[in-house]
Amino acid sequence: MVQRKNVAVIGSGAGSNAEAICTYALNADCAYAVALIVSTSPGAGMYTVAAAHSIPLRVLDPEKDIAGQISDLMIEYGIELLALAGFMKLLPTQIIEQLGGRVLNIHPALLPSFGGKGMYGIHVHKAVIAAKALKTGATVHLVTEQYDEGRIIAQDYVDVPTNCTAQELQILVKNVEHRIYPQTISAFLRNT
Ligand code: GAR
Repeated sequence: MVQRKNVAVIGSGAGSNAEAICTYALNADCAYAVALIVSTSPGAGMYTVAAAHSIPLRVLDPEKDIAGQISDLMIEYGIELLALAGFMKLLPTQIIEQLGGRVLNIHPALLPSFGGKGMYGIHVHKAVIAAKALKTGATVHLVTEQYDEGRIIAQDYVDVPTNCTAQELQILVKNVEHRIYPQTISAFLRNT
């Protein structure tokens, strides 16, 4: 029997990575349990995932101290790893330190290319197409106080189809994200 570690997922997007992370936890040999989902805005994506998997959902209050709210939630739910999934801001350093550096992010490109401030979501795929890149993909990396600069933990790629739109590319890359992110979280926790 695997001793599972408590993971929280935080984001504000469509919630598709949160969904993949929760679904992977149904595997008997998964090293984590999703104990909490945190939404940074009252969008529908995270609500749907949390409800479907019967996982507590907490929505951050933008009027209050963000670091303090996240910090309190990490303690309340005994969180050992925080997974960013569509979290578009810099995470306060205090949270990274509190979790002993066990904070991961998924980025929709092959870092170090197409990363940094302003490179998120569909903007990344538009930039990949504009640069006529032949390959793109997804990167799981450790979170630091800078955008997209932490150590790369896992990466996988797809070929960029000729004449594809940014939206079509996003779908292809999200398939990669959903495959590598949950596996990487589980393997990372097993090894730390
Ligand atoms: C994902 O594609 C993720 O890689 C990206 O936001 C999307 C969230 O989608 N993150 C970044 O761009 C971070 N720089 P989701 O809500 O469907 O998981």
